[in-house]
Formats: sequence, C-alpha cells, structure tokens
Amino acid sequence: MSGSEAGSNAGPEPPRPLGAEAEAEAEAAAEAGGLALYRLNVDGFLRTVSGAWLGDSLLTVLRDRLGVTAVKDACEQGRCGACSVLIDGRLAASCTVLAADADGTRVVTVAGLGASGLARAIQARFLSEGAVQCGFCTPGFVVAVTELLTRRPDADDQEIREALAGNLCRCTGYGRIVAAIRAVQQERGILPIGGEDDVEWHP
Ligand code: FES
Ligand code: FES
Repeated sequence: MSGSEAGSNAGPEPPRPLGAEAEAEAEAAAEAGGLALYRLNVDGFLRTVSGAWLGDSLLTVLRDRLGVTAVKDACEQGRCGACSVLIDGRLAASCTVLAADADGTRVVTVAGLGASGLARAIQARFLSEGAVQCGFCTPGFVVAVTELLTRRPDADDQEIREALAGNLCRCTGYGRIVAAIRAVQQERGILPIGGEDDVEWHP
C-alpha cells in the first residue's frame, strides 16, 4: 500500500449480494460439501460468504473472498499487526480469527474508519509527520492507533508502546509513528505543544 493510499478516505466497497437463486444454490452446495455459508458485517455492509472452508481466517476471507485488500497479509501468525481490524470495537489480528466466528459481529477495517474524524486525523498526521514510508504497515497502525486513542485519548508513551507492541514497522524506526500520535493528541488539545518526550522505541 502506498502512502497516498494510506491517507485516502476511500469508502468501503459496495456490497455484492447474491441473488436469491444463487444464494439458494450456494446454500445447497455448502450443505453438500460441508463448507460454510455465513454473512459478515464489514465496514457497515453485510457481505455473504459462501463455500468457504470453516477454517478460513478472517484475513483470508476479507482479502481473497471479499476483495478487502486494505487489510494487509504478512506473517499470518498474529505477530506483525499488518492485518489489524476492529471486531465490535476491539483490536484483533484478523489472521488469528476464524471468519465464521465473526458472523454476528461488526468488523471494521481501515477502509471503514474513513467516516471517523479521529481516524482521518491520524492518517493526516501519519503523512505530515513522516510516519509512512513504504506504507505496508500503515493500515494496521491506523486501526491500532484509532482503537488506542478512542479508548485512551491521553495515552502516554508507555501506553502507546504497549498498545502498539503487536504492530511491526521495518521502515520508520517507530519514532515518527509516535510523533504522529503525539501530534494528533496536540491537535485535539490533549497534549500541550512541546509536551511530548523524545521517543526512542525499539520493540
Ligand atoms: S498478518 Fe496477521 S498479525 Fe501478521
Ligand atoms: S512504513 Fe514500511 S513497514 Fe512501516
């Protein structure tokens, strides 16, 4: 993902509902083959997933079946944070969650955060503070930072480090990312101008 993509507010893709006939066929095929048919609420749209393996991760279904490529695929082991999403408002590595288990929840990806003023501010500050280089990690960071600042608007350095410990970046050295978070806090009147510490962070 490029930096400009990370900073865009592209809205969620329109849903692609199955027609009634196709849905009935998919249901029959699912029953015959022991595969799953379920619906996911992704970025506010109800999406039908048919013929998926019950063991498919949410990451796999989002990217490969629903075309939500804003969620990045890297380690697939819950170790890098590139695939971060919110599930009912809680941060989750989508590679570690079974997609079928997300039926009945509300999944929000970075693309679905666009309407939030906070997420927009975070993306803008990531760009202005140089926190985006190759941009691959950025969607996951934006989701994680949005969750953090929603829960703890005045998070201090320690809380920021702890909250983002599961997100890896191989380009920025993390200092620019923390600076972007501090800039958002300043912009929102939570952190006095010049009130941040110098941050050295090597998780
Ligand atoms: S791809 Fe999910 S944590 Fe790395
Ligand atoms: S900006 Fe390249 S991995 Fe984070």
